[in-house]
Amino acid sequence: MEGEKIITSLLSEKRIFEPPKSVSERAWIKSMDQYKEMWEESIRNPEKFWSRFLDILEWFKKPTKIWDDSKFPPTAQWFVDGKLNASYNALDKHINSGKGDKVAIYWEGDNPTESRAITYTQLLEEVCKFGNVLLKYGLKRGDRVAIWLPMIPELVIAMLACARFGIVHSVVFAGFSAEAVKDRILDSSARMLITSDGTFRAGKKIPLKVKVHDLLEETPTIEHVIVVKRTGIDTPMKVGRDTWWYDELKDQPTECSYEEMNAEDPLFILYTSGTTGKPKGIVHTTAGYLMYAALTHKFVFDIHDDTVFFCSADIGWITGHSYIVYGPLVNGATEVMFEGVPSYPSFERYWEIIEKYKVNVFYTAPTAIRLLMKEGDALPKKHDLSSLRILGSVGEPINPEAWIWYHKVIGNERCPIVDTWWQTETGGILLTPLPGATSLKPGSVTFPFFGVKPEVLRDDGTLAAPNEGGHLVITSAWPGMLRGVWQNPQRFQKTYWAKFPGKYYSGDGAKIDEDGYIWILGRLDDVIKVSGHRIGTMEVESALVSHPAVAEAAVVPMAHKIKGQAIYAYVILNKNFSPSQELINELKQHVRKEIGPIATPEAIEFAPDLPKTRSGKIMRRILKAIVNEVDVGNITTLANPKVVKALWNAHKTAKSSSSH
Ligand code: PRX
Repeated sequence: MEGEKIITSLLSEKRIFEPPKSVSERAWIKSMDQYKEMWEESIRNPEKFWSRFLDILEWFKKPTKIWDDSKFPPTAQWFVDGKLNASYNALDKHINSGKGDKVAIYWEGDNPTESRAITYTQLLEEVCKFGNVLLKYGLKRGDRVAIWLPMIPELVIAMLACARFGIVHSVVFAGFSAEAVKDRILDSSARMLITSDGTFRAGKKIPLKVKVHDLLEETPTIEHVIVVKRTGIDTPMKVGRDTWWYDELKDQPTECSYEEMNAEDPLFILYTSGTTGKPKGIVHTTAGYLMYAALTHKFVFDIHDDTVFFCSADIGWITGHSYIVYGPLVNGATEVMFEGVPSYPSFERYWEIIEKYKVNVFYTAPTAIRLLMKEGDALPKKHDLSSLRILGSVGEPINPEAWIWYHKVIGNERCPIVDTWWQTETGGILLTPLPGATSLKPGSVTFPFFGVKPEVLRDDGTLAAPNEGGHLVITSAWPGMLRGVWQNPQRFQKTYWAKFPGKYYSGDGAKIDEDGYIWILGRLDDVIKVSGHRIGTMEVESALVSHPAVAEAAVVPMAHKIKGQAIYAYVILNKNFSPSQELINELKQHVRKEIGPIATPEAIEFAPDLPKTRSGKIMRRILKAIVNEVDVGNITTLANPKVVKALWNAHKTAKSSSSH
């Protein structure tokens, strides 16, 4: 939390930004009065509220029971007796209503010379071809399939082909390591892995399949591996297990059946980091998730039939699941899917894409905004960004400087910014402005979406006063909420429902100001948001300790100008190892291999000792304060208070001799 404080303290923006008339006039939600009336109904009478929106989905059997809260908390069930199919809703529904020739996805490659426009009909044909491959290998409803693919159309095709048959997909971000893929396969007992020979990133070829090849000997449940040829990198293939995507698809028919799924059947698992242990498999269901992803997408981004939507996230994270795959496609929108990075071939890449496809709604992360802001105003000004109507932000708190720049330079002061707060667990956006209705305060996520009742609590569970920071909890049930942690009901209960019994515990700090605006203060637990990516400190610590040189490790967030937060690691070495730059590099490489490049520590400091309580618990709070150069507070509970001074001195010396 100190990290965000340091960043946000640079500017205090007191102005309020009203929704532009041009946006309000056309918007689905046009005014604060309309919002309030709908929100109150959504809390007072969820049944009535949600039944009004059933038609955003097409049902094989329309639900008569909107929700069942008899077991809430923790789990409410939604649209209980409905039957539907997510893939059918994303594809067939639009083709049946005459929109088959509409572009579903403008795919833009890492290299700007590579792009594709894929219509709904074409997407369905590819999904069916791959769906037939899944059937050929005997995959069936309820089985799990792991997908480790970069941002290429085959990723969307694979997900929707799984969803067609009720096969539960578990997508692993392509930037994670092969070890991470292995762990997720083992946890979910996946029968198939879909991956690629490699990926392009900023013009470079990066291998994928070859890295996981040997590890697949340790994943007994994997029967088949299907490999997309993307880069031409040399790739080992195990005979009888591994086949090429293209060979599998080429003779498959472009039609296939689909399953009629129950509302509460799982749609996917997505692993995310938490406070303890290994990442947990968050489970989302078919109807509730789909309804929530589609409705939030429609209202928060004000999607109409002619809207071109561009979400720059990776599908390996929840933002991509909900706002590249399910939300936009269920709404029949046209969207841009981008394989590359904002800095390649130049820092103009996003602006070129917005100009090229006449993007109306652009949804990105504060880290990208800060990165591009640093490059100056001249680059975006070279491009015609006049198609933009709404700008979105997600993944971490947006500091007012970045907000104002986004508003002024990218939005030309006419585009509302929707700063959306949510989590892997929530399925869709929970706290957000509505672009045609909400007056904005830069840095505030403003108000709850329909069905969502937030509270900010003190440690003792009482309500915090206005402007007093506390724990953000949700007290209502909403359709997109997680239904569990894969095969671990105790962890589900303990992580989300135990701290404040009966209330959903988010792990975030927040405050509500005198006007009722909500401000997110950052994570209160041991989760770090590096460039908006969620990493558990314990995961990085375990990776470090698995190296023979390391006896003990403690990882804390450090404020970072572009990334928001970066990883700072304290390491105590085993006997016979001594500090050196080579060892620092080796440890960084080790973490990359164990978790992935995004988890690489920004800095590693060799410490003689760590601050510990008398019971031996490392006090990360103190390390975090030292790293971010703020007051360490009370240290009387420490068993070894002298260490604090030594660490302060070491930090100052390290700082003066390096650039971190
Ligand atoms: O700390 C909050 C931060 O991201 C966390 C959730 O991370 P993840 O599950 O990876 O999902 C990210 C995308 C939805 C939250 O607990 N976060 C997300 N959005 C915001 C945010 N922090 C501040 N402002 C936001 N708009």
